[in-house]
Amino acid sequence: MSTAKIYLFANWKMYLDATESERMAKQLAAYSKRLPTAVETVIFPSSLAFQGVAKAAKGSRLGVGAQNVYWVEKGGYTGEISAAMYKRAGARYALVGHSERRHLFHESNHETAQKVEAVVEAGMLPVVCVGETASERAAGQTEEVVEAQLRAAYSTVVWPLKKNPIIAYEPVWAISHGTGKDQAGKYCEPAEAEKMHHFIIKIVHDLLPAAPEPVVLYGGSVRPDTVTDYLSEPNVGGVLVGAASTVLSSWKTIIADALK
Ligand code: PGA
Repeated sequence: MSTAKIYLFANWKMYLDATESERMAKQLAAYSKRLPTAVETVIFPSSLAFQGVAKAAKGSRLGVGAQNVYWVEKGGYTGEISAAMYKRAGARYALVGHSERRHLFHESNHETAQKVEAVVEAGMLPVVCVGETASERAAGQTEEVVEAQLRAAYSTVVWPLKKNPIIAYEPVWAISHGTGKDQAGKYCEPAEAEKMHHFIIKIVHDLLPAAPEPVVLYGGSVRPDTVTDYLSEPNVGGVLVGAASTVLSSWKTIIADALK
């Protein structure tokens, strides 16, 4: 792990409704009080569940983040929620450029740059998600794709000097899209992830030379039985977990294993 702190981020995507999210947030908020300060646990609920979850997390060590934001602060943008609105509702982080946003909703590199800027301006930390598809990997373009995503994401932001940039490396082919199950043969070897994390840190250093050490989280079918394999790599600063973070017992096991 690259920093003393371990970042364990739970992307609940569209798996849980508002009632389920609040119930689980209450349990995790109580659980967070027993965790050492060296671990940062953050949940990213759906926008519908956000306020109830933020209320449940208040006063605990459980952080709350937005899954997606819009970059304009207020106005006629049907269906959108701005970074500033999320900040006022209690968000400390926002995911930007998640592969499901990029590939299912055609979000461009340019849009991710606008979102990164808006999230920072609102006083939150963007978790910039990058990763290559299976065909880009097969064509040997992994580094090229990830570098382009990083260069675009940080192209316009004025980085707050004291904050560690957080990036999530999530190879698209390793994510358990909607199935909640591992896809046969789609496991990203920890050593392969480590190589990419090292590469990402180098690029982000280059892009934000005055910023503190970048932290790179790994994401893509992380499970209780694989989390420690990833976290034992030197440049893996934490994990971003989808499906396995939406079941209380499996998320608590991931946290407990990460602390071993
Ligand atoms: P997964 O999702 O853990 O369900 O593969 C990870 C992510 O997309 O953030």
